[in-house]
Formats: sequence, C-alpha cells, structure tokens
Amino acid sequence: FPIVVLISGSGSNLQALIDQSLQGQLNINICAVISNKAEAYGLERAKVAGIPTHSLSHKSFDSREAFDTELQKLIDQYQPKLVVLAGFMRILTETFAQHYEGRMLNIHPSLLPKYKGLNTHQRAIDANETEHGVSVHFVSPELDAGAVILQASTTIAEDDTAESLASKVHSMEHIIYPLAVKWFSEDRLTFHDGKAYLDKSML
Ligand code: GRF
Repeated sequence: FPIVVLISGSGSNLQALIDQSLQGQLNINICAVISNKAEAYGLERAKVAGIPTHSLSHKSFDSREAFDTELQKLIDQYQPKLVVLAGFMRILTETFAQHYEGRMLNIHPSLLPKYKGLNTHQRAIDANETEHGVSVHFVSPELDAGAVILQASTTIAEDDTAESLASKVHSMEHIIYPLAVKWFSEDRLTFHDGKAYLDKSML
C-alpha cells in the first residue's frame, strides 16, 4: 500500500511507521519522505531505512501556491494511495488540501476541536485542563479541522510541564498514528462527505 510521508522535523512518528512496517504489523510501502526543511532529522531516519527522500524548501518559492503546486507534483510522481503528514509544519492551500481530500491524514497534539494550532501543551496547562491528548484526522482545507478518526488522552498531573506532557502525548502518537494508517490501508477506514467511517466489523 503506497504512502508518502511529509515531515518538517524529528520524524518520530515516521519512525513508528517504519518500525511497524518492518515488524510486519503494517502492510505499507513508504515510497518517499519529503521535508520542507533540509535539516529535518526525519530525513536521516528515512535514509537509514532505505526510503527515497526529498527536501523541498518553501523558501525557494514566491508564494504558498507555487510551493504547494511543486510539492503536489513531487508527491504524485509516487502515486500514493495515502499522504501522511507527520509533523509537517506548513499551512496548506485549499487546492492542495482538496486534491488529497479523503486520502491525507494528519496528527495533531490536542484533543480536537480543542487547541488547534501551535503550543497546544502549554495552552492546555494554562487553561487548567485535567485532560489532554492527541488526534488523528483527515485533512481539510481549514487548519486542524478535518474529520477526527481517533484520539488518545491522558490526565494532566499537577507537576506536568509542557515538556513532560509533550513526551506523554508523543508516546501515544506512536501508537495511534500507525493504527489509523493500518485501518486506512486495509480499507476499514474510509471518508465520505466530510466524515470518517470505520468498518462495522471493527465495532
Ligand atoms: C507531533 O507532536 C505531532 O503531533 C505534530 O508534530 C509533532 C511531530 O513529531 N503534528 P515527530 O516529528 O513525528 O517526532
């Protein structure tokens, strides 16, 4: 099952996908990893795993549209059935998001619809939340607003900091993101009319 993964940083979620596919838990073929940052550590992880990599800097383009058009061309060369955003820190144009509607996933470190955008851990602490977590969702043109597929949550302890919470959330990410990718690759997770559906056999 061909997928392309987009990253901007460390790539620990990418690593979880690589590991699970090597262990035979995930029947996917990561055709390429693309980063908008040349220094992203995730590119090294991909190289170690023998996956083709590309770095496409948004800074070389005059506009968001021009960057997204080039990115789309690059992705589509691989004809992926799914595009996985794994810490890809770019706002997407509507055209790009629509092109991959129903076949592009993102993972966001909050219990959506709460805390869209950045600094989610600190914002949850500042708001005295007792719970925090992570969401996997289909990507829609509006930021962090597409149909939610799966969430995992944890309690916020008195002594939690943004860092300690981020690390708890990260461990949950590495469990739920590969799971959502697995469901999609097995056609047990689908998308119709803006909504995510899980196959009845899973309920
Ligand atoms: C994760 O916290 C994810 O929720 C967010 O970006 C981060 C990516 O981490 N979208 P990594 O690069 O996979 O380690």
